[in-house]
Amino acid sequence: MSKDFLSLADWSADDLRMILVRAKELKELLAKGERPQTLIGRALAMFFEKPSLRTHVTFEAGMTQLGGHAILLRPEQIGIGTRESPSDVARNLSRWVDGIVARTYSHALVEELARVATIPVVNGLTDLLHPCQVMADFQTIAEHGDLDEVAIAYVGDGNNMANSLVYGASVLGLELRLATPASHRPALRVRQRADELARVSGAKVTWSEDPFEAVRGAQFVYTDTWTSMGQEAEADLRRQVFSAFQVNPKLLAEAPDAYVMHCLPAHRGEEITDEVLDGHRSIVFDQAENRLHAQKAILERLLRR
Ligand code: CP
Ligand code: NVA
Repeated sequence: MSKDFLSLADWSADDLRMILVRAKELKELLAKGERPQTLIGRALAMFFEKPSLRTHVTFEAGMTQLGGHAILLRPEQIGIGTRESPSDVARNLSRWVDGIVARTYSHALVEELARVATIPVVNGLTDLLHPCQVMADFQTIAEHGDLDEVAIAYVGDGNNMANSLVYGASVLGLELRLATPASHRPALRVRQRADELARVSGAKVTWSEDPFEAVRGAQFVYTDTWTSMGQEAEADLRRQVFSAFQVNPKLLAEAPDAYVMHCLPAHRGEEITDEVLDGHRSIVFDQAENRLHAQKAILERLLRR
């Protein structure tokens, strides 16, 4: 077990499964109005370089529900790298609070914060990875099927979501079929590390350029935006590159019983059509809800003493 939650590749299958079990428990407890006070007096600093709805609100609400408190830090307030070095920020925060959630452009920045901080650092999304989202996604899949038996198809950009799904599937030994343009496959370093993990877990992670092949017979079809935060200048080009990768009724005809997943925010009419996102097979708001429960389980795991 790592001090931090930066990458699913740093965690064992047993640890991730225990977090998922606790996330399910916490969801059931909250449905009965119970909020276990496991983090009384704990404080969490949340540093966001990029916009956020789900990650911000679910970490803050999660800390409150567990009896703790969260503090939002915006880049203009603390000036990481301009007013103060990342390592000095990490050293200061380590003296005051019990954990840090960081959403940054550079993954190296989150790694640096974690290296210097003596408290746990949680990756709230970087350009490379989004591990908390995948924990909520796996919780959601387990609510609708057997995580170990289903085939999950991911269609679109080989981005932070794809990278983290690849890591999650590779650690847990799942079946994940990716379809991306050859120019936008998941990062090479992720694929190499995932291969090592899959050799141990028996995961079946495959890649093709054909979205129809990837989704055929899958139980879950996942997509994400073609233009991630920070890539806005490339939006027009990206719409062209990914145009054959839209999740729409024609594609889903290959997987008639599949549930549809998206981490949100969605760019409706681009990577996914309205009728699919709002359709009866969509479980996107279950995913969003489970951010709360999965992250409470992660926070307990890291901050509870
Ligand atoms: N899915 C997700 O991380 O949403 P936000 O960007 O709103 O936090
Ligand atoms: N790939 C998207 C995920 C948003 C939750 C992005 O990085 O903007």
